[in-house]
Amino acid sequence: MLAAAAALAVLAPLAGAQPPGSNPGLPPSATATGLAPQKITDMAVRQLQAKNHYSDVDLLGFLINGECLEATFDSYAAFGTGMDPVLFGGGPPPIGGRKANLSPEIQAWAEEVARDEIGHVRIIREALGADAPPCPQLDIDKAFEKFFNTAFGTSNVTWDPYKNDINFVLSMFTLEEVGATGDQGVTIFTATNGNLTNVAVAAGLAGSAGYQSAADRHILWLRRNETVPEFNVTVTEFMDKMSALRQFRSLYTGKLHIDQPLEMMGGINVVPTDGNGVTLARTPQQVLNIFVGGSADGKGWFFPEGVNGRIKTPEPLNPDVPQELLALANAPYTVVQSAGAVNPMTVAPPLFNATEQLLSTLSSSPSSG
Ligand SMILES: *[C@@H]1O[C@H](CO)[C@@H](O)[C@H](O)[C@H]1NC(C)=O
Ligand SMILES: *[C@@H]1O[C@H](CO)[C@@H](O)[C@H](O)[C@H]1NC(C)=O
Ligand SMILES: *[C@@H]1O[C@H](CO)[C@@H](O)[C@H](O)[C@H]1NC(C)=O
Ligand SMILES: *[C@@H]1O[C@H](CO)[C@@H](O)[C@H](O)[C@H]1NC(C)=O
Ligand SMILES: *[C@@H]1O[C@H](CO)[C@@H](O)[C@H](O)[C@H]1NC(C)=O
Repeated sequence: MLAAAAALAVLAPLAGAQPPGSNPGLPPSATATGLAPQKITDMAVRQLQAKNHYSDVDLLGFLINGECLEATFDSYAAFGTGMDPVLFGGGPPPIGGRKANLSPEIQAWAEEVARDEIGHVRIIREALGADAPPCPQLDIDKAFEKFFNTAFGTSNVTWDPYKNDINFVLSMFTLEEVGATGDQGVTIFTATNGNLTNVAVAAGLAGSAGYQSAADRHILWLRRNETVPEFNVTVTEFMDKMSALRQFRSLYTGKLHIDQPLEMMGGINVVPTDGNGVTLARTPQQVLNIFVGGSADGKGWFFPEGVNGRIKTPEPLNPDVPQELLALANAPYTVVQSAGAVNPMTVAPPLFNATEQLLSTLSSSPSSG
């Protein structure tokens, strides 16, 4: 696992938002990324839909698993109790869960997020009616410890997500941002079915989760130099490891740099995006693979008995996308320093052959971790 994280860490330069200090006052200029990330999402969705024909019940039904997880964890942390049993839809009580020890500022934030997450479960149940699956068995206790020990290549570090502000925000954020990318992915899937009410639900969930994740990132950014004593690293270093694991668990997004650290290219990265400042999507399979720790049967970590609904396993993780498109999606900026030097609509050639670098990175990554 450490080898994988190290391999991913050298996948630089990253095709994220504009590098700090570049091109001041000018629009993003001369990025070769273009529409490649959006075309990759388009291809991934079409491939999965051609084969599986996921209905909105399948898609929103998948989302309810993650919403149950986030709502239940956030609700315990904020209020010391889980959401209303009706919203579990007959699902079992979670493993773990208690009131987190929070400062007044983070307590208020925890409460807002918990209310919104509970609302997310509620609206999906309303949209799907009797077709909505129950919440699955949730682990909101040791699953975090398993995640972070894997991220750090350790096996015995104790992690209490309810211990204090930092542990809570790091734990909440770990789930939330995966949800944000998954909601964006499901938005595109539901678009193929054409029910605009459901598209609006999924798009609104993506927006909400994205706002929440960015707020978490900003809280963590302000405290980036603090030590996380469990792993004796700074918050920034902790985020590097967390992000590398989430990236690695989505093998296809292991090629597309979807999961990004808190500090990138030497500066702030509160809104992780492609080179044009546009947020990125994951498929349900990629989301699931992160939450279950890469387990092929879809059971593990946060969902020890698996998830409910039609989408139950992380296969296929890796849609068939041309290497050249992946290379474009990861292409670096050509930083232009003076006004008017380059028309912002022109695409400069990559500074290096991104395909070759990506292929060599992938060949040095283990196939599981
Ligand atoms: C679209 O989905 C909603 C549930 O979100 C449902 O109430 C509505 O009947 C669906 N519309 C059509 C045309 O099927
Ligand atoms: C975990 O195990 C390692 C290696 O055996 C050891 O160095 C470390 O002190 C242990 N950490 C904890 C928190 O027990
Ligand atoms: C964090 O550390 C960096 C580098 O030492 C320093 O420039 C920055 O001001 C520090 N920020 C905070 C919020 O402590
Ligand atoms: C924690 O890390 C710092 C900096 O990397 C190091 O100097 C220190 O010895 C470490 N402390 C422990 C208890 O491992
Ligand atoms: C980049 O490398 C790949 C793999 O070796 C190769 O197929 C491709 O033609 C190269 N692209 C350019 C623009 O040189």
